[in-house]
Amino acid sequence: MEVIITSDYEEMSRISAELIAQEIRYKHDIVLGLATGDTPVGTYQELIRIHKEEGLDFSKITSFNLDEYVGLPPLHPNSYNYFMKENLFNHVNVNPANIYVPQGHIEDPEHFCFWYEAQIQKAGGIDLQVLGIGRDGHIGFNEPGSSFASRTRIKALYKETIEDNARFFSHQDDVPRFAVTMGVGTILEARKILLIANGEKKADIVAEFIEGPVTSQITATALQLSKSATVVLDQEAASKLKRTEYYNWVRDNKHLVQKKVGR
Ligand code: GLP
Repeated sequence: MEVIITSDYEEMSRISAELIAQEIRYKHDIVLGLATGDTPVGTYQELIRIHKEEGLDFSKITSFNLDEYVGLPPLHPNSYNYFMKENLFNHVNVNPANIYVPQGHIEDPEHFCFWYEAQIQKAGGIDLQVLGIGRDGHIGFNEPGSSFASRTRIKALYKETIEDNARFFSHQDDVPRFAVTMGVGTILEARKILLIANGEKKADIVAEFIEGPVTSQITATALQLSKSATVVLDQEAASKLKRTEYYNWVRDNKHLVQKKVGR
């Protein structure tokens, strides 16, 4: 796992967006996995800037979002469908036919989950999966105890997650108790993974998932099993890591490694 520690939220967002932009430039018809939450908002804003000012072309990309609340229609302001339109899709030249966000307001969510997995396969699998992390270590809505083999399915939300997400709703009781989420197994099949995290409230879980043992109790530790995972952090989220000096040395001397192994 490559760990990049940046000075603040702005730098974290700039570096994450540049990593995503590089992949889009390299493969125009890339399949992206996308995340919601406060963390990636700055990254999406920077991607929008790169699109507008430098012509980054989204017209051939396909994207699959990680998750959605069960019960919220796509036009609900707290739905992740709405979030993605507001924060990215409405501002870049994506083809709406190639945009997939799980639907949570449907009669047969289980059937939907099978269909969603099949669409990911049909698209050739995810090239780059973007992730945030919940305070309980979840990726997507894969709460503690989710199997590393899990696929897209309905998941009951953990108490801490409901409390954390209550800030977006008028009352905590309005926060849905269930979500449709890609599984840990689905996420692990991505060819590359980029996890971003910021702020002091993420420092404990960031240290645990990067430097602690692999456990389904912290589903982000599954990234230790990924073929290619990069984590971009701000100073605060990185503040409890033990091997900071090593990560910074690797970051500053990456050109030496790249010279030896190529791209
Ligand atoms: C939700 C989402 C996750 C996200 C997490 C953290 O639970 N399902 O995908 O990573 O929130 O959100 P934030 O970035 O707002 O801290």
